Amino acid sequence: MNILVSLWRGLGATALLVAIVLPHSAYAQNVADNINPVGSVCMADQPCVGATAGDAGSRAMPAASTAAVAEVVEDAAEMAAEVATEGAAAVSDFDPAGVYQMNCFACHGTGAAGAPMLGDSEAWDARMEKGMEAVMANAINGVGAMPARGICMSCSDDELQQVVEYMLAQ
Ligand code: HEC
Repeated sequence: MNILVSLWRGLGATALLVAIVLPHSAYAQNVADNINPVGSVCMADQPCVGATAGDAGSRAMPAASTAAVAEVVEDAAEMAAEVATEGAAAVSDFDPAGVYQMNCFACHGTGAAGAPMLGDSEAWDARMEKGMEAVMANAINGVGAMPARGICMSCSDDELQQVVEYMLAQ
C-alpha cells in the first residue's frame, strides 16, 4: 500500500512537472520572440535572424526582411511626399526680404565682386534689358561671380524669382 501511494505520488509529481515545464518552455519561446530586437526576423520552425548589435554573422537578409525594408522605404517616401506637399502649401509664408538678407545681401547690399546693388535702379535696368527670363536663368545657374541660386540652395526657381522681384522693387 505504501509503495503504491509513493508510486502514485511519484507519477503525480512527474505529471505536474511535465504540465508546468512544457507550456512554460513554449511560453518562454513566445516571450523571447516578442522581445526580439526590432529588425530581427523569426520564421516558423527556424531560429531568429536579425540585426542585433555585434551580431554581424547573421546579417544575410531573408526575403521576408527585405520586403519589410522595402515597406519602410516606401513609407519614408510617402512621408517625404507629404512633407513636400506641406512645403508647397507653405510657399505663401516665403519671405523674400528675409532670404535676401540671409543669402544675397552680402554681395548685393555691398556691391561686392561687382554685384548690382540693391536700390541701384540704373544697374538693374541695364540688366533687365535682356529680359526677366535671361536674368532669372543667370540667377539660377550663376553668372560670373554670381553663385548659382545666390547660394540659396533651398530656394525653388519660383522663390528665387520672388527674391529678385523684391530686389528690383527697392
Ligand atoms: C557671392 C556674391 C553674391 C551673392 C551671395 C549673390 N549674388 Fe547675385 N550677383 C553677384 C554678382 C557679382 C553679379 C553680377 C554677375 C555678372 O553679371 O557678372 C550678380 C548678379 C545677379 C543678378 C543679375 C543677373 C543678370 O543676368 O544680370 C541677379 C538677378 C542676382 N544676382 C540675384 C541674386 C539673388 C536673388 C541672390 C540671393 C538669393 C544673389 N544674387 C546672391 C554676386 C552675388
